[in-house]
Amino acid sequence: MIAAIIAAAGSGERFGAGTPKALIQLGDRTLIEHAVSSISSVADQIIVTAPAGYEKQIQTLVGDGIIVVTGGATRSESVRIGLSKVLCEAEYVLIHDAARALASPALAQSVVAALKNGDVAVVPGLAQTDTVKVVNADGIVTATPDRTSMRKIQTPQGFTFGLINQAHAQSGEATDDAALVESLGKPVRVIEGEERAIKITTPSDLATALQFLGQSPNFKTGVGVDAHHFEPGRPLWLAGLLWPDQDGVEGHSDGDVAAHAICDALFAASGLGDLGSNFGTNKPEYAGASGVALLKETLALVHKSGYKISHVSVQVIGNRPKIGSRRVEAIAALSAALGGAEVALLATTTDGMGLTGEGKGIAAIASALIYSK
Ligand code: CTP
Ligand code: MG
Repeated sequence: MIAAIIAAAGSGERFGAGTPKALIQLGDRTLIEHAVSSISSVADQIIVTAPAGYEKQIQTLVGDGIIVVTGGATRSESVRIGLSKVLCEAEYVLIHDAARALASPALAQSVVAALKNGDVAVVPGLAQTDTVKVVNADGIVTATPDRTSMRKIQTPQGFTFGLINQAHAQSGEATDDAALVESLGKPVRVIEGEERAIKITTPSDLATALQFLGQSPNFKTGVGVDAHHFEPGRPLWLAGLLWPDQDGVEGHSDGDVAAHAICDALFAASGLGDLGSNFGTNKPEYAGASGVALLKETLALVHKSGYKISHVSVQVIGNRPKIGSRRVEAIAALSAALGGAEVALLATTTDGMGLTGEGKGIAAIASALIYSK
């Protein structure tokens, strides 16, 4: 039989929420609820140590099958109170911090597997990637230990019941339970930990944890193409700029192929149809609309459908005009029309072949990356 103790009696002073840390919301649940699901797949008995005054609230959150006890003044004290409730038939005890809410069930399973394999004390750990220095009271470094032999230790930590009882019998204080076992001279096995088992101490840790919850953006991409014939006598609008002394192109609007290709890429990504269905000839109010105006309209539609632009890239294909000298200006114009989105603008010729290589017009191909939360 396996028992688990979740230390959740801290006040969360460094987090500064004004409520105990275990009650802080992370996604759809509180930290204590997450922590329970980290270990519930392996534990037959679960004991939670609650801050004084919050026992009922935590009991309601975790449900009746879990024992909630009032914690102590220190973490080690809280764990000892929890240990006193472990059923005597327990073979192993896992000790977990509510603050490491996102430790996966697989991590607890690995800890248990190592115990079943004969280890008496098992802790997850990650390699130490920062150089660590020992500093004295005057702020002077006194040592730089070799980081390659260092591990950042996490929970859940697992122990044979007899050993963890013995380790806590002297009422020792330590920041984790393994340290008390080490002071008995018993071997503590380190297994591979998890990035997602980070200890939530400050609001910025909570933001990191949210990313592990998979509440990262939902990305979509789209591609758009446009091409227009030259029509001498018309002004040339391209990539949001007027190009004096260049032949313009025919078109329902100003014929800005770069802007139109971007609009289509955005429509493709957001699944909103295309340039024709949104601003086509059956929508006379868009006749003669500038590329910039269409980009602004498209941006509004993308936003309305719940997406934001991550990045837009457009490549102009044609023998003229030469984009290079006005690239920065054009990017600024396109980006401004797209609410400040990141824009890349490239240009190429097609070596006299196909598409616009014959010099009959200008084309553009665009791609867009958009995201929703
Ligand atoms: N803990 C506990 N009893 C205590 C102190 C801490 O059960 N007397 C628990 C915390 O609830 C937490 C874990 O031990 O899940 C690790 O402690 P820590 O991250 O320091 O949490 P807090 O003590 O709540 O935070 P702070 O130190 O910022 O007040
Ligand atoms: Mg603390």
